[in-house]
Formats: sequence, C-alpha cells, structure tokens
Amino acid sequence: MIVVLFAMVCGVYICSICLKQVSTRTKSGFSSVQVIQRPCPHPDVEPEELRYMHHPKPNTYSRAECACNPVRYFAILSMQRSGSGWFETLLNNHTNISSNGEIFSVKVRRSNISTIVETLDKLYNLDWLSSASKNECTAAVGLKWMLNQGLMQHHEEIVEYFNTRGVSAIFLFRRNLLRRMISVLANLYDRDNKLLNGTHKSHVHSPHEAEILAKYKPIINATLLIPNLKQVEDTSTKALEYFKSTRHIILFYEDIVKNRTKLLDVQDFLKVPKRDLKSRQVKIHKGNLSSQIENWGDVQKTLTGTQYERFLSVDYRRR
Ligand SMILES: *[C@@H]1O[C@H](CO)[C@@H](O)[C@H](O)[C@H]1NC(C)=O
Ligand SMILES: *[C@@H]1O[C@H](CO)[C@@H](O)[C@H](O)[C@H]1NC(C)=O
Ligand SMILES: *[C@@H]1O[C@H](CO)[C@@H](O)[C@H](O)[C@H]1NC(C)=O
Ligand SMILES: *[C@@H]1O[C@H](CO)[C@@H](O)[C@H](O)[C@H]1NC(C)=O
Ligand SMILES: *[C@@H]1O[C@H](CO)[C@@H](O)[C@H](O)[C@H]1NC(C)=O
Ligand SMILES: *[C@@H]1O[C@H](CO)[C@@H](O)[C@H](O)[C@H]1NC(C)=O
Ligand SMILES: *[C@@H]1O[C@H](CO)[C@@H](O)[C@H](O)[C@H]1NC(C)=O
Repeated sequence: MIVVLFAMVCGVYICSICLKQVSTRTKSGFSSVQVIQRPCPHPDVEPEELRYMHHPKPNTYSRAECACNPVRYFAILSMQRSGSGWFETLLNNHTNISSNGEIFSVKVRRSNISTIVETLDKLYNLDWLSSASKNECTAAVGLKWMLNQGLMQHHEEIVEYFNTRGVSAIFLFRRNLLRRMISVLANLYDRDNKLLNGTHKSHVHSPHEAEILAKYKPIINATLLIPNLKQVEDTSTKALEYFKSTRHIILFYEDIVKNRTKLLDVQDFLKVPKRDLKSRQVKIHKGNLSSQIENWGDVQKTLTGTQYERFLSVDYRRR
C-alpha cells in the first residue's frame, strides 16, 4: 500500500515537472516553435544528440521516402569576402546539403527579431525555395549569414533560437585580413566600374574573368589600415564570444584552400555522408600580395613591426 501511494506521489510530481517544462518552453518567446514530434525512432542516439535531429514537415511538399531521415539545421556565420560564397558552393555540391545563400541580405527580413525568427522558421521547415533547395532528401539545411546582417545586433535572441531549436553554427573567417581588404576594395570598385563587359561579378567561373578582375590594384589608405584591420578582428572575436554557447565549428578559408580534409570535418559536423565536394568558382586574387596593391611600399611600411606584419608574408600556395 505504502509503495503504491509512493508511486502515485512520484507520478504526480513528475507530471507537474513535465507541465512546468512545457509551459516554460511556450513562454520562451518562440511561440511558433513546433512541439518536437518524433514519429521516426532513433533508438541508438544519445538524447543530447536528438536536440539537433529534426523531422520538418514542409507545407509545400512531402518528404516522401526521406521523411524519417533526420535533418540538421546550420548557419554559416561569416563576413563579406571571406570565401563563404565559394564554401557554400562546395556544401551545395553535396546531394544532401541545402545552403540557401544570404537570405538576410534583404533588409526587411532582418528588420526585427520577429521577422528574423519567421524567416528562420520557414527556412528550417524546408519551405524556403531557392536554387539550392534539394527538397525531400535534404539532411542539412541552412544559410549564409554575414555578421553585419542583424546577427550581432540581435545576438541574444538568435543564440536563444539556435539553442532551443538545435541550430549549429559554422564560423568561417579569413586568416589574412589584408587579403580580405583587397578583395573588399576590388569588389567595391567592380560594383561601380563593372569590368566584365558591363556586369558586376563578385565571383567568377573562369580564369580569364579572374584575370580581368585581378587587374585592378586598389590603393590602401595607410592611415586607416591598422584601425580597419583591428575593427574586423574585434568583430570576429566578439561574434565568437556571443555564440560560444551554441554547437559550433570554427573554420578558416585559408585552411580549406590548403587542406581539403577540412571539408570532411564539416561533413562530420553536419552528420551527412562524406563526399568529395567540388566548386566551379575560380579564385580572383592569387599570387604575390605586392603585385595586388598599388601602394605596396606604404602598406609594407605601415605593417612592418606591428602585430599584423604576418599578413605581408607569402601564405599562399596553390593547391
Ligand atoms: C558536384 O560537382 C560535380 C562537378 O562539378 C557535378 O558533376 C555534380 O553534378 C555536382 N553535384 C551536385 C549535387 O551539385
Ligand atoms: C517587424 O518588422 C516588420 C517588417 O518591417 C513589421 O511589419 C513589424 O510590425 C515589426 N514588428 C515589430 C514587433 O516591431
Ligand atoms: C541523401 O540523398 C539521397 C537522394 O539524393 C537519399 O537517397 C539519401 O537517403 C539521403 N541521405 C540522407 C542521410 O538523408
Ligand atoms: C565579353 O567580351 C569578350 C570580348 O569582347 C567576349 O569574348 C566574352 O564572351 C564576353 N563575355 C560576356 C559574358 O558577354
Ligand atoms: C585616409 O583617410 C583619412 C581619414 O578618412 C583621410 O583624412 C586621408 O585623407 C586619407 N588619405 C588618403 C591618402 O586618401
Ligand atoms: C588537414 O586537416 C586535417 C583535419 O582537420 C588534419 O588532421 C591534418 O593534420 C591536416 N593536414 C595538414 C597537412 O595540415
Ligand atoms: C613573388 O615574390 C617573390 C619574393 O618577393 C619573388 O621571388 C617571386 O618571383 C614573386 N612571384 C611572382 C609571381 O611575382
């Protein structure tokens, strides 16, 4: 009798805890978060891991034979001209990965946290239709998100979203920030001057086009050089600090260029079957930095003896 009574009390207690958890979940601000449904059993999976496995039910189509394949949610967090466009074409070369580009380059989608959450919900429910969508057999879905596209501004809510919804972050940074600066300046110049037969291109697919774009040599303002490099460095440090509680991986563009096994690490991180990934994009600026900057002497003088001196040295070897 006592045992039965004890069991009943325990039962009621456990129920009340459950109810409490349910109510905190709905109070957390993301009312559109679907209650986790698990029609597909994954008996061998750790509970901690289940948090990152999703079974979205798109509104516009059925996941058909892949309905029970779990889907991982990811976001590539990066800065302009850090190789993220190239990186994304590599990911999209995987049959099971769908990375939908810079969705938040459109300002209204990042006007406030509600529009951000609404956009992410749609994306992660596999209802975002872009040229990268692979529909029913997608096993990892995500986007490319630049730090200056509302990410830093709304970091608290976005981190909460990532953690409650089980979104993994892929940081992609560039080690050589001076090379990044050249790419930024050249891209800005091309936007106004459209070197390729009057069309502005940020990424190219032929060595010929790359050569034309690389002909332009920017002049770098030596006074602003160090403050600019420092600002970019500080922004990436801050982003890592903000998002450190999320499940994440940190990648550097240069490492992927030199060592393609880094791409296996990424596929491991996303838990997709491993493939050899290819991109058709061609690198625009290659070879010696000295031949890519108009006022190389000034730049060299400014950086020599500073913490940024390493950016001057040859760090590029073509694969
Ligand atoms: C991956 O790239 C290769 C080579 O460019 C191409 O043949 C293949 O169709 C691509 N696969 C996907 C899924 O895009
Ligand atoms: C968020 O932005 C959208 C689009 O600009 C607007 O319609 C909506 O009223 C805003 N919501 C809040 C809570 O500010
Ligand atoms: C990957 O996609 C193929 C079809 O393109 C599908 O047969 C396979 O089950 C998918 N793999 C995963 C892990 O979802
Ligand atoms: C641009 O012009 C060159 C030569 O005038 C031509 O060979 C090339 O096909 C053109 N490219 C495009 C994209 O129109
Ligand atoms: C560099 O930038 C500073 C601050 O904007 C400006 O005062 C200066 O004239 C610039 N120098 C050159 C050479 O453009
Ligand atoms: C390439 O990357 C892999 C995985 O990150 C690492 O284990 C390996 O040591 C790297 N190889 C070189 C030559 O750096
Ligand atoms: C690059 O610079 C090194 C040393 O400064 C020089 O030996 C080499 O010839 C240069 N390469 C090119 C392609 O200009």
